Amino acid sequence: MPNVISKIDNQVLTITINRPDKLNALNQATLGELNDIISQAKTDPDTAAIIITGSGEKAFVAGADISELATTDAMTGMQFASFGQAVFNHIENCGKPVIAAVNGFALGGGCELAMACHLRIASDNAQFGQPEIKLGVIPGFGGTQRLTRLVGKGKSMEMNLLGGMVSAEQAEKIGLANQVVTQEELLPTANKIAQQLANSAPIAVSMTIDAINKGLECSLPDALDYEVKAFGICCASEDKNEGTSAFLEKRKAEFKGK
Ligand code: COA
Repeated sequence: MPNVISKIDNQVLTITINRPDKLNALNQATLGELNDIISQAKTDPDTAAIIITGSGEKAFVAGADISELATTDAMTGMQFASFGQAVFNHIENCGKPVIAAVNGFALGGGCELAMACHLRIASDNAQFGQPEIKLGVIPGFGGTQRLTRLVGKGKSMEMNLLGGMVSAEQAEKIGLANQVVTQEELLPTANKIAQQLANSAPIAVSMTIDAINKGLECSLPDALDYEVKAFGICCASEDKNEGTSAFLEKRKAEFKGK
C-alpha cells in the first residue's frame, strides 16, 4: 500500500501513515488503506494488539488532506466525513486494543484518529488540536464528540472554537494523552504496552473496551447491566479458568483467547 506501511512483530501490528512530505495528511486513498489494514487485523489470529503512528519526526497526522477538502461541496463533504467516521469507528470497534503513538502534530483528523484509538502515548514534541475552525469548517471525523467525551465540555469548546494547539504535557494533564515520553522512547514504550496487552486475555481486553465505549452511550443502569453480561461472558471463558488457576498456583498465566 503506497500510503500506509504495516509490520507485524510478536503479535503486535504497527501501522505507519506514510505521507511525510504532506505531514501524513489523510486523503481518501490513505483512509481506504487504513480501513483495509484494520479489516485484515480484525480477523488475523496473529494480531493481538495494534500501534498506529506517523512517518517522520514531525507529524503523527496533520489532519484531513486540505487539498481534497478544498474541492468538496455539501454532498461530497458529507461523504468524506461519513467515510472518515466509518474508518475511525472501525478502529475503535475492531475488537483488538489500538495504541496511538503520537510522534508530532496530531491536528484535525490526526487528533480524531488518535482519539479513536484506545490509548494515546505522546512524544514530548507532540501537539494536539482541532484547527478546522480556521478553515471555515468543523471537525468531521468525530472531533466535536470524542474530544468532549475525553476532556469535558469546557476544554473541548476551547479547542474546537479557538483551534489552538495543546502541547503533549498539557494533553496529558487534560486526559487527552495517557503518557508522555521522549521521541526516542515513543515506539519502545508503545511496543511495551502493546506487548502487555497482547499477553493479556483477549476476550477480557475486548470486553473491557466494549463495556467502556458502550457504557458511555447509555444510562448508568443500562451500562451496568452491559457490564454484568460482559462479566458473565468472561467467566465462561477458558482464559478465566487459566487466569484464576495461574494466580492460585503462583505461576504466569498463558491465555489463549478462548
Ligand atoms: N493537508 C494537506 N497538506 C498538508 C496538511 C494537510 N492537513 N498539513 C500539512 N500539509 C502539507 C503542506 O501543505 C506542505 O506541503 P508542501 O510542502 O507541498 O507545500 C507540507 O505538508 C509541510 O507542511 P508545512 O505547512 O510547510 O509545515 P510547517 O511545519 O510550516 O507547519 C503545520 C506545520 C502542521 C502547523 C501546518 O502544516 C498546518 O497548519 N497544517 C494544517 C493543519 C490543519 O488545519 N489540519 C486540519 C485539516 S481539516
